Amino acid sequence: MTSDALSVFKENQKKSWALFAPIEIFTTTAAAALVNFSGVKAGDKLLDVGCGTGVVAITAANRGAKSIGLDLSPDLVLRAKENAIIAGLDIHFEEGDVESLPYDDNTFDVVLSQFGHMFAPRPQVAIQEMTRVLKPKGILAFSTWPPDLYVGRLFGLVAKYSPAPEWVSPPSLWGEPAFIRQQLGDSFEKLIFNQGMMNFSALSFGHYRRSVETTIGPVLKLIHDNQQNPETIKQFRLELEDLFNDYYKNNAIEQHFLMSKANKK
Ligand SMILES: C[S@@+](CC[C@H](N)C(=O)[O-])C[C@H]1O[C@@H](n2cnc3c(N)ncnc32)[C@H](O)[C@@H]1O
Repeated sequence: MTSDALSVFKENQKKSWALFAPIEIFTTTAAAALVNFSGVKAGDKLLDVGCGTGVVAITAANRGAKSIGLDLSPDLVLRAKENAIIAGLDIHFEEGDVESLPYDDNTFDVVLSQFGHMFAPRPQVAIQEMTRVLKPKGILAFSTWPPDLYVGRLFGLVAKYSPAPEWVSPPSLWGEPAFIRQQLGDSFEKLIFNQGMMNFSALSFGHYRRSVETTIGPVLKLIHDNQQNPETIKQFRLELEDLFNDYYKNNAIEQHFLMSKANKK
């Protein structure tokens, strides 16, 4: 992989996630689950990696943490800043890449990531950076989508129609405990897991399809890249509808996710 290929990938990521803001209505409740699970305390210095519109950083700040949020997308950082103002909180949000964090070693008591760092193409680079900025004994906790559950299966479907370069690690590997254990290696102790659930409501498949095609980075990119291939888009939509129908009940999809937590040694 060349540095040009890496820059192109990051630019594409930045663009494809830019319209994610409406989904904060769903990730807001998941943020409370992650903050509860992590055991954040008032006064903790906390980093929210891949913060999007800031739901985790703001939830933690509401409980007295000194939050900072970082995200690849400037549009989402702007929205996060607005959210902090609406919440009456003073939180620093900035544009940045989890694979190259702009903070000194041993800065944070807690590093959290909700469905964020899992999208970095090189898991070892991302985890090394998150570990580096965490203080010894500090808490690392994150939420991720397992490959065999709804969102992981959705990403698998997207990858079939819009494959990433071969050097890009599939995001939902971060949803597997064995993979997480391997990535954390000897730098962490007391690794524990829990499960959470995010209800993704939709009035019909048409509403759901429109929502994910206009907000969820990898789906948005698939549709954008295949504007000239209507047959590919048609096939993708048929498979998406089948997957959706397997899970859709009472106007919503129950999206189960994995939460992981460990202490830096
Ligand atoms: C599914 S969204 C989650 C956003 C937010 N954490 C939430 O739960 O609402 C994924 C986020 O990861 C960000 N992201 C993807 N790759 C990143 C990277 N390399 N560094 C920082 N953020 C990244 C995207 O811009 C996007 O905001």
